Amino acid sequence: MAQAVEANGARIPLVGLGTWELRGRSCARMVEEALELGYRHIDTAAMYGNDAAVGEGLRAAGVPRDEVFITTKVWSSDLRARDFERSTRDSLAKLKLPSVDLLLIHWPNPSIPLKETIGALCKTKRDGLARHIGVSNFTVALVEEAVKLANEPLVNNQIECHPYLDQGKVIATCRKRGLSVTAYSPIARGRVEGDAVLSRIGKAHGKTAAQVCLRYLVQQDIVVIPRTSRPQRLKENFDVFDFKLSPAEMKAIAALAHPRGRIVEWSGTPDWD
Ligand SMILES: NC(=O)c1ccc[n+]([C@@H]2O[C@H](COP(=O)([O-])OP(=O)(O)OC[C@H]3O[C@@H](n4cnc5c(N)ncnc54)[C@H](OP(=O)(O)O)[C@@H]3O)[C@@H](O)[C@H]2O)c1
Repeated sequence: MAQAVEANGARIPLVGLGTWELRGRSCARMVEEALELGYRHIDTAAMYGNDAAVGEGLRAAGVPRDEVFITTKVWSSDLRARDFERSTRDSLAKLKLPSVDLLLIHWPNPSIPLKETIGALCKTKRDGLARHIGVSNFTVALVEEAVKLANEPLVNNQIECHPYLDQGKVIATCRKRGLSVTAYSPIARGRVEGDAVLSRIGKAHGKTAAQVCLRYLVQQDIVVIPRTSRPQRLKENFDVFDFKLSPAEMKAIAALAHPRGRIVEWSGTPDWD
């Protein structure tokens, strides 16, 4: 069984495949190959325009549906209640699934009342469209607000997270409220590859810099969803459970964080604390 993290009743496999920018046949092929290699978690979103291809890869792999954790997200322009339900149903129709395992608000939208969106999110769970629900790109303040507004448990906050960015405050808030954290851009969009510290640590374990980076996150029970378009990298990004980083190595990696470490720019609320 895939290594997983538990949060508010959900069990989320620690390594998933990110699919942003993967499209059509090649997306379906990557999803199928990932599942064949042992991945049990796939991350998509309405905004990625690849739900149909993800569904195709899922069916081609033939892994029993209840063994795979599928996450999708509703884009920030669809956060009015009626749009939210339409987007969710549209994603499910394209995936050809009756429900997803996790449905997230992709980005908050300050011009739409959070109460309305959280209400719509909770309703998708009650209607059986999502087994679990959560948020993405939510700051400390937004997580606190969302938890107060929700009448169903929120299980996850998907945020940018890698060694170059200190997300300690929002991670602590999520944990206090029972939410797990998923790291997006977990290998900093490939920037970790030539990193001297990660490469040095990797050498000691017979691992690559990317594997050390992913291990650093999963060792903290942070879910990772690295994306690759290269089949040979699927195995590399999944092979992070057969070694352990020492406290000194974890500390050296944490020291790579810096104030300008964020990669994904966000035009919404800029205050992450
Ligand atoms: N919730 C949100 O707002 C949000 C935002 C961004 C991303 N996400 C999700 O998170 C996923 C991952 O984030 P991401 O796509 O931004 O970035 P990422 O996974 O950190 O990095 C992907 C990049 O790294 C390269 N790469 C993959 N494996 C590698 C390895 N072992 N060594 C060196 N380079 C490697 C890939 O190139 P190749 O294809 O050439 O291998 C690709 O260019 C997305 O696909 C998406 O599902 C969510």
